[in-house]
Amino acid sequence: MKFFIDTANLNEIKEAHDLGVLDGVTTNPSLMAKEGIRGDENVTNHYKAICDIVDDKVSAEVIATDFEGMVKEGKALAKIDDKIVVKVPMIKDGIKAIKYFASEGIRTNCTLVFSAGQAILAAKAGASYLSPFIGRLDDISFDGLDLIGQIVHIYQNYGFETEVLAASIRHTMHLIKCAELGADVVTCPLKVITGLLNHPLTDKGLAQFLADHAKANA
Ligand code: E4P
Repeated sequence: MKFFIDTANLNEIKEAHDLGVLDGVTTNPSLMAKEGIRGDENVTNHYKAICDIVDDKVSAEVIATDFEGMVKEGKALAKIDDKIVVKVPMIKDGIKAIKYFASEGIRTNCTLVFSAGQAILAAKAGASYLSPFIGRLDDISFDGLDLIGQIVHIYQNYGFETEVLAASIRHTMHLIKCAELGADVVTCPLKVITGLLNHPLTDKGLAQFLADHAKANA
């Protein structure tokens, strides 16, 4: 299972990378805006800086919503670095663009996925990654994790090569359940990755070990 961090913040990306468990990064227009990154040159430089930190893939999302616009933007994004994956929204022209990018050998991440039907379409079009949004489904009282299980099952039935990249992960249990369900990748905020460290018995046990050692060596 691969760990991607869901942020455009360079410090957080470095921190996760320094932990030694980070594979890649996902961004979206909201995350780029949060970091104040605007203008073509700044956007390109920011993606370059992210690619310089991580070893695996970096998802960069197109803003255009028409086929020609997505193709133009996606080609420019893909040229920035070999690690770039072009993130394309799950809309009609997005599916056409994914099919086109697949034929050109450009990797894609189909985003804003909320149903199994959408997952089948994206796989048929040749998406490299599929991003079903767990937390946003939970927010409207649908079980986001159920969708992950359903998609993993469908993809296994047909040997689809599209990787399930579980997104909109809000807490550690989302991540752990995704591991049980067989998601290929999880993308989550830094606090979810570092949250996996926490257990009160670890803290208590370590304090006891150190106290016993100090007593014996006083
Ligand atoms: C990642 O690809 C998605 O854009 C992201 O996980 C969405 O997360 P959110 O629902 O917390 O905004």
